[in-house]
Amino acid sequence: MTNPIDRLMLKAIQREPTPRRPLWIMRQAGRYLPEYRALRAKHSFKDLATSAELATEVTLMPFERFAFDAAIVFADIMSPLPALGIEFDFAPGPIVAQPIRSAADVEKLPEPDRDKLAPEVIAALKMSRMALSEDTALLGFCGAPWTLAAYLVEGKGVKDFPTLRAFAASEPDALDALLAKLSALMAEYLILQHKAGADAVQIFDSWAGVLALPDWERLIRPHLESLLSTVGAAGVPRILFLQNAPHLMDAYASLPCEVLACDWRIDIKGLQKQYGDTRAVQGNIDPAVLLGGPEATRAAAERLLEAVEPIGHIVNLGHGILPQTPLESVEALVETVHNENA
Ligand code: CP3
Repeated sequence: MTNPIDRLMLKAIQREPTPRRPLWIMRQAGRYLPEYRALRAKHSFKDLATSAELATEVTLMPFERFAFDAAIVFADIMSPLPALGIEFDFAPGPIVAQPIRSAADVEKLPEPDRDKLAPEVIAALKMSRMALSEDTALLGFCGAPWTLAAYLVEGKGVKDFPTLRAFAASEPDALDALLAKLSALMAEYLILQHKAGADAVQIFDSWAGVLALPDWERLIRPHLESLLSTVGAAGVPRILFLQNAPHLMDAYASLPCEVLACDWRIDIKGLQKQYGDTRAVQGNIDPAVLLGGPEATRAAAERLLEAVEPIGHIVNLGHGILPQTPLESVEALVETVHNENA
């Protein structure tokens, strides 16, 4: 039996040498897989994500085809929010029934109901761990407080989130109270996931980039830092992902975490040069490259492996894999990473 700490993914997180670099893909259990699309023809996304059995089946799905080094539990960043009494649906992104638009709306949020803190995700982690091979890591995740607030205030995903930015300008105290609640709840949630078998957790700050750096420092940093510190103090390895926010990269690099996960806009080689002594890096092939086919994918993967030092590098895309991605491109990526030292 492999000792969990020998999992490639965990070694890379700790910046220890590995026989080759680990690889996983954001949204690897999703619509580019024909078997996922077949299951989705029978069940809504919400049904899949709220059933521990179905979520486990989807979490494990990509492993029938690809030898990824980590599984990420199939859920959504919205999954824990029923604990705050929040109702939502998906079409395809989250739609919040009653968006939070005032200080009164924030005050009305109930004390967290721990029984509703995504018990299906916790159960799916336990079942996935039992089914996964010993050398595969299991990842939990949550949305960063700001990215969750983006959906709660805006009500849905909208380009550049103007309602959210207006709320931040007109109701900074209410935003502060909302982010504090989300940060405390997400810390609890990630620690629960770790106890259920998640080797590490990824915090997704997909909409980090819509504010300027000074506003980010003033309004957001304290809450993200508090979430990361609480989780770190509990011994949970942390992967911090930010999307479309190159102007915040250095600020994120100063936050407490083990891994900096960046999108394709970032010079990951430069990032590793600057912060590689204290942080592993994860990423960052442009997901659109895979639409260009296996040869384009292989070329991009080779350039990445050439540019980034192997120690402390986890290979991934710069954002979620696109639904129209050909399976041959994923095969080419896996092959290129697996053959680096062959
Ligand atoms: O990465 C994985 O394989 C694990 C599963 C996962 C999902 N959502 C499943 C999902 C993860 C990690 C997420 C996180 C998530 N959800 C984020 C952060 C990552 C990112 O993409 O930036 C965000 C912003 C959300 C909110 C969300 N949920 C959006 C914007 C959408 C619609 C966009 C899309 O991809 O269609 C969803 C729905 C969703 N979450 C789907 C999946 C597989 C698509 C559902 C379907 O129709 O089958």
